[in-house]
Amino acid sequence: MNLTERVWQGSWISDPTYQFDSPASPVPMMFRRCFSLDRRAALEVFATAMGVFDLYLDGQRLHDDYFSPGFTDYSAHLQYVRCEAADLSQGGHELLAVVAGGWAVGRSTHIDDTTKSRSKLTAERQALLCDLLLSFTDGQTQILGTDERWEVTEEGPWVFADFYDGEVYDARIDRNALNWHPAAKEKLCVDPCICARYGEKVSAHEALEPVEWKEAPSGELICDFGQNIAGVVSFRITGKAGQEIVFRHAEAVEHGELYVQNLRSAKQELRYICREGEQEYSPRFTYMGFRYVGIRGIKKDEIEIKAIAVYSDVEMIGSFRCSNEDLNQLQSNLTWSGKDNFVDIPTDCPQRDERQGWTGDIALFSSTACFNFDMSRFLGKWLLDLSTEMAEDGKLPFVIPSRKGITPVMTTSCWSDSCILVPWALYLSNGDQSLLERQYSSMKRYLEDVARYAAMSEGEYGSAHIFKYPFQFGDWCAPYGSVPEWLARGPHVGTPYYYRSCSIMSRIAAILGKEQDAARYAELAEAINRDYLRLFTDGTGKLKEEFQTGYVLPLAFGMGDEAQRRVMAERLWALIRENGVHLTTGFPSTPFLLFALCDAGLQDEAYKLLLQDSRPSWLYAVRHGATTIWERWDSLREDGSIEESSLNHYAYGAVGDFFYRRICGLEAIDPGYRRFEVKPIPGGGLTWAECEHKCPFGLIKTRWEITDGRFKLAVTVPCGTSCEVMLPNSECHTIGSGTYEFECMER
Ligand code: BGC
Repeated sequence: MNLTERVWQGSWISDPTYQFDSPASPVPMMFRRCFSLDRRAALEVFATAMGVFDLYLDGQRLHDDYFSPGFTDYSAHLQYVRCEAADLSQGGHELLAVVAGGWAVGRSTHIDDTTKSRSKLTAERQALLCDLLLSFTDGQTQILGTDERWEVTEEGPWVFADFYDGEVYDARIDRNALNWHPAAKEKLCVDPCICARYGEKVSAHEALEPVEWKEAPSGELICDFGQNIAGVVSFRITGKAGQEIVFRHAEAVEHGELYVQNLRSAKQELRYICREGEQEYSPRFTYMGFRYVGIRGIKKDEIEIKAIAVYSDVEMIGSFRCSNEDLNQLQSNLTWSGKDNFVDIPTDCPQRDERQGWTGDIALFSSTACFNFDMSRFLGKWLLDLSTEMAEDGKLPFVIPSRKGITPVMTTSCWSDSCILVPWALYLSNGDQSLLERQYSSMKRYLEDVARYAAMSEGEYGSAHIFKYPFQFGDWCAPYGSVPEWLARGPHVGTPYYYRSCSIMSRIAAILGKEQDAARYAELAEAINRDYLRLFTDGTGKLKEEFQTGYVLPLAFGMGDEAQRRVMAERLWALIRENGVHLTTGFPSTPFLLFALCDAGLQDEAYKLLLQDSRPSWLYAVRHGATTIWERWDSLREDGSIEESSLNHYAYGAVGDFFYRRICGLEAIDPGYRRFEVKPIPGGGLTWAECEHKCPFGLIKTRWEITDGRFKLAVTVPCGTSCEVMLPNSECHTIGSGTYEFECMER
């Protein structure tokens, strides 16, 4: 990743007369620079801001992306963007920058107690830094940097904008007749390294048409777009001056009305005040998590409306399909939850007053994400913040970028393990070793901190390898008990994660040629393994306190010897069976549940669980109309009532990993797929399954089908790679690039 800085001619400017109080969000500021050309010129604009901005030249927007300069740890890094306009004529021109509060200034901080919500986290008010580079045909150049010759106003048509509450836009306000006054230089409280954009830009993607219109008992018109998304509406109307149209956004409808309780304090509302005549609008400084839009102030046949999905430009590089339509819907749901939560940073959810870069959620979803999307730039950017935000002693904020003064900074399993698990998933998928090098010190510091905490439980356990303190999320969001019960499972979750991170670290150290570290982490992993089995099981592998997660993690992470693993798998299946073939796993173990069963030889059992459609299960949500992955197994209850939770959290969507890696059997043997295997595991009554994955060498394709008791497999191997194929009858083949077909008896 290249971090390119620039020498700025301009200075930071703002409107020193503008003040507002937290937790409100600021009114969008408009800055302009009028200039006159005595001959034609080309224009390049370099710009960044405290806040999020749009640039216009002579009334035309200069770029399509949203929310520049993006969300980074502003105390360390701030991106700038470059856009251009080819041919400016002789005469007068105006460059306009609209800067809304965004992440730096607007209310965008999650806090448990929303009454303590805050804005102005990075800056007192919006600020702009900009260079306009004019290039004339004779080779001369001129730079107009931000200075006191720029003007500013808060009286523009954007009356309000922030991420949680939405936008208010008054189309009657004439942008050309505003009260402008000179901007002044601004001193920021942060001094970041200002680099050319190194993350993916956020853009408009799918445009969805309404699938159904209804009138709520309250009279509100409700428009259903058929898909839960992160995005904005875009509409065209013929309006009357002063007519006010209100658009409320929600993920669900309850008793015929929009269900907004799960948004907590986020309003997700667009208020649009019309001018006279034909007009169209789409918000630019906010986004909402929604499938339904409630509209007041206009009739259905007076509006043309679409929903625009807004997310980072992560290229889709994978697909999975099979003969079971429920699983196909689940694949669609999990890729949508991915896109909806890739809005410049990997967020937990796109709708409520949260939308934070929760480390645990992406730790769990990163492998699935890497099968489906090219995550290199997107996660590369986020990981840069992760490593700079980690404290010297290895403690990591719960969310990255952190909200300073609000986000707890604390070592905790799974969430903090993101510092190892995310780069590792990325490395397996793209083979970029430089990422491991860059992140290595943060990984090491983290594990040193875990070691210090593990040592603190020595008195309690007689082992310095049990990861319990200082805090664990435990079996977070499991479909049993309540938060205290989930947290109480902490040591059973923390310790296997500690084992897993040490095991991966040992491999990373070996890859980077750090042999001593490699040996040390391997030894440490072994000691953790030994103590987990000694302290938490009766020695045979049976847990003293049995619960599903307690078996899933050690099984999936490769702990215990063969005999112990056999007992663990049997007991895990027994617990699942006793629960009516239902899982009871929370966030940290669910992604590994099917692997734990399948890799212990319980393949049919894994399929049974995957295809379960009563609560709690993945297909319960599918059968109840989900179009994204829910935060809770029972976010929507059987009786149609709604549990106050997000309907768009990708953590449980990490089951997508299993589709590629076991149903289709695609695994990278060497990072970046220079060598990979295709070892499909048919089952569950599926008659065919296929996946594609564009690896750095090209497109991998696999498809199997069962016809007349014969299993047929087709594999396409890209140039420069080789593939180990294993058929269900255990027949093996090594193949180079090309397309191959194999056949054997169905197992
Ligand atoms: C978030 C989660 C997150 C969790 C951790 C929640 O509010 O939405 O996804 O990982 O908090 O406590």
